[in-house]
Amino acid sequence: MSIYVVTGGSSGIGAKTVELLKECGHETVNIDLNGGDINANLATKEGRQAAIDELHRRYPDGIDAMICNAGVNRNIPLIISLNYFGATQMAMGVFDLLKKRGGSCVVVSSNTIAQGAARMDVVGMLNNQADEERILALVKDYDRRTAHTFYAATKYALARWARRMSASWGAQGVRINAVAPGNVRTAMTDQLGPQERVAVDALPVPINYGSGALMDPNDLANAIVFLASPQAHGVNGVVLFVDGGTDALLNSEKVY
Ligand SMILES: NC(=O)c1ccc[n+]([C@@H]2O[C@H](COP(=O)([O-])OP(=O)(O)OC[C@H]3O[C@@H](n4cnc5c(N)ncnc54)[C@H](O)[C@@H]3O)[C@@H](O)[C@H]2O)c1
Repeated sequence: MSIYVVTGGSSGIGAKTVELLKECGHETVNIDLNGGDINANLATKEGRQAAIDELHRRYPDGIDAMICNAGVNRNIPLIISLNYFGATQMAMGVFDLLKKRGGSCVVVSSNTIAQGAARMDVVGMLNNQADEERILALVKDYDRRTAHTFYAATKYALARWARRMSASWGAQGVRINAVAPGNVRTAMTDQLGPQERVAVDALPVPINYGSGALMDPNDLANAIVFLASPQAHGVNGVVLFVDGGTDALLNSEKVY
């Protein structure tokens, strides 16, 4: 039995991941705003630190995996604070616990990173300065209709961060990878407005071609559990697109 920590495990992809891990007989710890084993607001420094402290208190001998899944696609400041800092700070905050058990980390990015919408200036600020207050001050007046460009930026920066960390973490026995989901049937996509839904439906998902169906949360949970598990021992620093082939369809000439 291994100890898996999942953020945002009360709903959607995170809930399916927790369910699958439990079916496999593992101990899981869900950190979420509500309904978690640990309730914490990971969009705040205090919430992250409280969750990190609690994990150290509960598991002084270490944990086997940290799955940084919690994320939102509405509210630009929340997107910045939760999607990027809520994932990177949590992962770094439990690195010592992962190291104790030769564990691994999976961060949940998005296949929007491959679709050209990400604000690369924001990506640069996140990856190279990581100054949360400064970035929040810069984005505070942006029109909420541009939220998707900030969403894609946080997910791009998160995937790049994971790749940047992977060599030095790997050398210390801890793997880190990212999954990049396509559109998945969860609370996040249920709340899309009519225009957003048209845009989503316009993106073909080859494995579901013609059916109008989004990805199933199970598809993501299986990929996340694999990447986090010892079966993926040789996989480090990878961004795994779990989007039914949409990225390959749109970017087939880009091999790496
Ligand atoms: N659904 C999709 O189509 C899709 C596509 C690409 C990427 N993703 C990413 O997958 C991840 C999971 O998304 P989902 O679709 O399952 O969403 P969801 O809305 O079903 O679940 C998100 C979970 O995060 C929790 N959460 C929200 N704010 C929080 C906070 N401040 N602190 C702690 N927990 C908080 C929620 O309570 C919820 O349990 C996200 O990072 C999302 O960006 C989703």
